[in-house]
Amino acid sequence: MQLEPFLLERWMTRWELVVTHDICESGIKPLSLQNVLDLIPAAEASTLEQRIHELPLGYSEARGTEALRSTLAATYANTSADNILVTTGAIEANYLLFSVLLQAGDHVVVVDPAYQQLGSVPKAIGCEVSKLSVVHDDGYYYDLDELRALVRPETKMIVINTPHNPTGCMLSDADLDEIVAMAQANDCWILCDEAYRWIEHPGGTHIPAPMRGRYEKGISVGTVSKPFGVPGLRIGWFAAPTEITQAAWGVRDYVSLSPAKLSDLIVEAVIRNRDAIFARNAAIIGANLETANTWFAANSDLVSWQAPKAGLLAMMRYALDIDSTTIADRLAGEVGVMLAPGDAFGMPGALRIGIGQDTTIFSEGLARTTEFLRSIG
Ligand SMILES: Cc1ncc(COP(=O)(O)O)c(C=O)c1O
Repeated sequence: MQLEPFLLERWMTRWELVVTHDICESGIKPLSLQNVLDLIPAAEASTLEQRIHELPLGYSEARGTEALRSTLAATYANTSADNILVTTGAIEANYLLFSVLLQAGDHVVVVDPAYQQLGSVPKAIGCEVSKLSVVHDDGYYYDLDELRALVRPETKMIVINTPHNPTGCMLSDADLDEIVAMAQANDCWILCDEAYRWIEHPGGTHIPAPMRGRYEKGISVGTVSKPFGVPGLRIGWFAAPTEITQAAWGVRDYVSLSPAKLSDLIVEAVIRNRDAIFARNAAIIGANLETANTWFAANSDLVSWQAPKAGLLAMMRYALDIDSTTIADRLAGEVGVMLAPGDAFGMPGALRIGIGQDTTIFSEGLARTTEFLRSIG
């Protein structure tokens, strides 16, 4: 299998340990273990702490512990622990699903731009990939007529991501129903990457119910990386029909064997106590959205955006005739600000911004960005 370089990952790796103001991160500001313990009820925190100290660090259950799978299953309709496979991040969940569901020659429709894995892995498997663009002259959104034109009887899978990385657009409940109807009519799978599930904005649009539970061939992929601020625990999962979960488990035997045992334990507590974490997220997102809206309004001659509907990511367009990789490299190297190049998503003339980071870093990062862009403009 010939995999293309993962452009964004390569770019991030080059700069993330060097910059002072990373304002393009894809997740919410990370939590320490102490933060997690402080956010959950005291009695539970003390039990969890004790269990962390005493847990024998052997291999873990290959599918994820029953406790974690049941906790996750309860967040989907018509789903039991047997439908859940806990994985090493959503990235492994996506990879395993592509491995078991796709073969060379299959036709796949994939949202574009996207988290690069969603298109590159089907392509490496040898699938015929049709891109469904969410970039239009009048904004970023899924055009379901375009999707209808791309899906055909031999289509094997529709790959969507909502709320969307990198544009921040989102499918509505009615949109998801329509996509299900298209998939049903063509008997194809839907892989819905819901890495940004649960990240709503204060006073903003609600995120519709997950794909799993809407359609028997609808699969939801989830992660704690974005909504819970614990990407370093490397826990993701998917919710799918049992036979798919079993088949992916079979591939997983060759890849990572099982999730990290300590991570499984901590994540189970994190998911159960999610409301406390979401309240913390809302405070960060609310503050950063206000900063960003003020900043874009004050600098509208230079930069613009479509504010994200949910999730943490959006694209910043800039009015300079310089490619995005050059600008992103110079911002990182000269003023310590990390804004990811749109080139990594096939979006020249734009930079990806993330609204989940520390509020002071975020506002300082934007101030440095204006100064820099004005100095080269
Ligand atoms: C849309 C999307 N899917 C999947 C992933 C992988 O996340 P993780 O493996 O950390 O759970 C990411 C990470 O940025 C993402 O943005």
